[in-house]
Amino acid sequence: MERSLVIIKPDGVCKKVMGKIIKRFEDEGFKILAMKMIKFSREKAEEFYQVHKEKYFFPGLIKFILSAPSVAMVVEGENAVNRIRDIIGARVPSEAEKGTIRGNFGADGRRNIVHGSDSSKTAEFEINCLFNPEEIYFYNDEDWLNSEPG
Ligand code: TYD
Ligand code: MG
Repeated sequence: MERSLVIIKPDGVCKKVMGKIIKRFEDEGFKILAMKMIKFSREKAEEFYQVHKEKYFFPGLIKFILSAPSVAMVVEGENAVNRIRDIIGARVPSEAEKGTIRGNFGADGRRNIVHGSDSSKTAEFEINCLFNPEEIYFYNDEDWLNSEPG
């Protein structure tokens, strides 16, 4: 099983499509191990996006990420990183495949609704950046469904 870090960015929260995005991952069979609404601090945003700190778009990206709350999730499943990137779609919504989250809801190459980790290693860094270990839940959904809890 692989984990990915997903963020519903400020535009996804403000456009009220959080539920649709979460439903999409649930419908694809992914298991959500952690989820919380957060408001990035400048320090945390710069740490999270440190790989882009020398890029021309960095200041605009940070300003956007600080503009409203986000929702961060740890999502687990087979081949989660690549499957989630496929579901999210290309960075620029007009170039994203039809039916992808960015294709459906994104406005432009910055306001593109969701983040998904680009590798397992990146996911590990991003999860540690945004979650404490005790915020990540270990549970067996299949056992739960096959038993009669309570
Ligand atoms: P990137 O890692 O290239 O895309 P992805 O989110 O698909 O992994 O860039 C990270 C984010 O930085 C991207 O989602 C939006 C922002 N960004 C811009 O605002 N302008 C740009 O020109 C690029 C390349 C990225
Ligand atoms: Mg990226």
